[in-house]
Amino acid sequence: MSTSDTLAFNPFLPEVHEDPYPLYRRLREEDPVHRSPLGMWVLTRHADVLAVLRDPRMSRDPRRSERVEMLRSSAEVDALLSSEEAAPSMLFVDPPDHTRLRTLVNKAFTPAAVERLRPRVEVIVAGLLERVAGAGAMDVVEDLAYPLPVTVICEMFGVPDADWDRFRAWSRALVRLLDPLVAADALERALEARLGLRGYLRELIAERRAHPTGDLLTALIVAEDHGHQLGEAELVSMCVLLLVAGHETTVNLIANGTLGLLRHPEARASLQADPALTGSAVEELLRYDSPVQFTSRHALADLEIGGSRVRVGETVVAVLGAANRDPAQFPDPDRLDLTRKPNRHVAFGGGIHFCLGAPLARMEASIAIPALLGRLPGLELGPEPPVRRDTVTLRGLASLPVTFPTPSR
Ligand code: HEM
Repeated sequence: MSTSDTLAFNPFLPEVHEDPYPLYRRLREEDPVHRSPLGMWVLTRHADVLAVLRDPRMSRDPRRSERVEMLRSSAEVDALLSSEEAAPSMLFVDPPDHTRLRTLVNKAFTPAAVERLRPRVEVIVAGLLERVAGAGAMDVVEDLAYPLPVTVICEMFGVPDADWDRFRAWSRALVRLLDPLVAADALERALEARLGLRGYLRELIAERRAHPTGDLLTALIVAEDHGHQLGEAELVSMCVLLLVAGHETTVNLIANGTLGLLRHPEARASLQADPALTGSAVEELLRYDSPVQFTSRHALADLEIGGSRVRVGETVVAVLGAANRDPAQFPDPDRLDLTRKPNRHVAFGGGIHFCLGAPLARMEASIAIPALLGRLPGLELGPEPPVRRDTVTLRGLASLPVTFPTPSR
């Protein structure tokens, strides 16, 4: 991209979708508090991004955006935002509702609680790799990165295996809503998926209420039954959020991370030689090619960011993927350095909405990636190139074909 091009934040351009980092660099250097043609502010510096995520004057609630009035003129969006049965999840509300909702589910996702799942995750990973070990080729997305987190989150919720395919379709359609612009047909499919998923969950909740088990869903139902902590609509929204997050994020960490390692043989060799690197390697893979590229906030008051005046109701996009390549925070930011320390990336966000699932995602990736490299020695990129997912907020791969030698018989 030449410097004479008009500088604009358009994550949908094919070359930006493929590799957004050159555009992020230009924005950070030339216009770090960028006013996009769509009327949003776009932040690309680490310090600005973190400050906004931590600022109580910045709301996560889309109803606080001035754009919401504009969007409401569309009947579908109005239905999406105001439908009574759809109480927003914790991701889209501010305190005190946010604090109440997050506290209810927090203990299931603490590092200690997640650590108890480790043996099960190891068994799932070993089983998935065993299935493909004799084949000499696999798709890292289909065969490992996707089924692992889905199995874990569905087991936590007690969703029967037979229903996983339906979940996959609903979840795929729903995450389109996270993108800054959604085509009319994708919006329609997302609204249908939302109805389907909510209906399914209400049935699952009714069944679990009649026959409680020890799973996370039962624990949340108990929280709903005891007083006014959690309403039925909130319970359904909580389940949608956790199940969709469980389906759509960790898959991208494992796939983007594997691709990063396959493209950097030295880094890969160092990880294989020294398993003690796994923890810092996962952090670096999160930073280097972040699964969630941006999030947004809405100003609750007039304020100033980097010399620009942001007015109440305006939307600020925090580009996590750009903050994670900011040389002011990360020396030599475009280098994949598995030993990088400190590594204060914002791949999981920051402030009160910091990713609830971070310990789970870290644990799953720290088991899956080394197991993949260790169990299938000689793994390399296949003849077919990796295919990118078409979402922009979520950055990931639709397929990552690889090959590997099979043991001679
Ligand atoms: C590598 C995988 C993951 C990444 C990169 C990721 C990233 C993020 C980010 C950036 C946020 C903050 C959004 C914001 O501030 O607007 C977030 C929030 C959240 N994530 Fe994750 N996530 C991942 C995995 C998971 C998993 C596995 C779960 C649960 C099963 C999960 C559940 C949540 C929830 C519930 C929130 C909202 C927290 C709140 O609003 O307080 N995430 N995640």
